[in-house]
Amino acid sequence: MSLMKVHGGTPLHGEITVRGAKNFVSKAMVAALLGEGTSELRNVPDIRDVNIVGNLLKLHGVVVEWDVEDGIVRLDPGNVETAHKADIDTHAGTSRIPILLCGPLLHRLGEAFIPDLGGCHIGDRPIDYHLEILRQFGAQVDKLDSGILITAPRGLHGTKIELPYPSVGATEQLLLTSVRAYGLTELRNAAIEPEIMDLIAVLQRMGAIISVDTDRVIRIEGVPRLGGFTHTALPDRIEAASWAAAALATRGDVFVRGARQPDMMTFLNTFRKVGGEFDIRDEGIRFHHPGTGLKSIVLETDVHPGFMTDWQQPLVVALTQASGLSIVHETVYENRFGFTQALRRMGATIQVYRECLGGGPCRFGQRNFHHSAVISGPAPLRAADIEVPDLRGGFSHLIAALAADGVSQVRGIELIDRGYEDFRGKLDALGAKVESG
Ligand code: EPZ
Repeated sequence: MSLMKVHGGTPLHGEITVRGAKNFVSKAMVAALLGEGTSELRNVPDIRDVNIVGNLLKLHGVVVEWDVEDGIVRLDPGNVETAHKADIDTHAGTSRIPILLCGPLLHRLGEAFIPDLGGCHIGDRPIDYHLEILRQFGAQVDKLDSGILITAPRGLHGTKIELPYPSVGATEQLLLTSVRAYGLTELRNAAIEPEIMDLIAVLQRMGAIISVDTDRVIRIEGVPRLGGFTHTALPDRIEAASWAAAALATRGDVFVRGARQPDMMTFLNTFRKVGGEFDIRDEGIRFHHPGTGLKSIVLETDVHPGFMTDWQQPLVVALTQASGLSIVHETVYENRFGFTQALRRMGATIQVYRECLGGGPCRFGQRNFHHSAVISGPAPLRAADIEVPDLRGGFSHLIAALAADGVSQVRGIELIDRGYEDFRGKLDALGAKVESG
């Protein structure tokens, strides 16, 4: 486990750049599998998840070239082949991407294999919606000891589906499966996150026919073949918001080059309500502390266009410095407040509750999930020894350590490389006093 020593108490000041969104880039790389030609994805960040997806695609015969410096990935799926199950398991690591390879692999090879899946431990993270979608297209799903084998002996056929919840991954599953299926597909209660809209843009460039209605309905007319694409990934709005929260928590001033207002409207509203200030420019957004006290808020996470669950953890750190009681209701994941334990050890006053506080009842109410948090501030934070629990929780711990008095030791820091490009270099650029072990 690698270690970072963080000398806290110095406001972050300066400029950093965010490149393409982790949660889009990986899916666009998978989409390339559906095409007959070579694809080129631009604005690709140097993060571990890109490596994992690249390796999984290579295992399936795709030629992957990654120009890390220029952020360009070229993918040639000319010779797609079946991979060994054990290799898929080894290369997938903690990634959930193998589930999204299913549709494209079924079209190309007639079968796909999903090993036991990982991903951040922020809830159960089931894949029932995914499997149900594949079944509805006509695929056969068989549980093996080592994972799940999916075959499509009679091909994949368009269908009508309504999701029980607008899941991002399930919507992507449906898109990647339907574009080359026979006939029409209709998805109701679809997720409409900007990353999904960018995936639809990629698929359209490849030759797909997809229409998006205003009421979470997506319709796809299957086509027999698709070509390659050239596309520039939308910027990472989770990374941008993470640095914005870091600026606020440390009383700093950070210009996030690449951050885009349209994808971050809801975050910007909340940032302003907390008392944070921002300045939107063509090339990015400057986020800064107001100089006076921060204000407490009531906040509920939700699917787009609501406040993203991935923005919640970094913002909670800033809320520990706001005056009064803030209430945060997490409605996307049932278990995303585990990271607050470390914040409490650092001096934050945070209590978590099973009840749905600060909003309407959600799927997790009346069940045994601590999915609401009450944060009382301002509470001075002090240094501590911390172990990174998951990607966003880990970055939030880093923010807390930067805001705290004293020297914190943060272990397991390599988890953060999964989704934050060169965060050590960016911390240096912002004047943070950190030492990597
Ligand atoms: C994506 O996860 C992101 N990951 C997550 O980001 C993000 O938090 C999430 O979308 C919501 O925006 C990637 O894009 C790689 P979901 P995903 O399906 O697609 C339940 C990060 O830190 N559900 O929208 O897996 C699920 O349990 C990561 O960057 C089912 O019940 O999320 C959750 O409660 C973390 N059955 C809810 O839906 C299913 O089959 C939303 O999950 C699928 C999902």
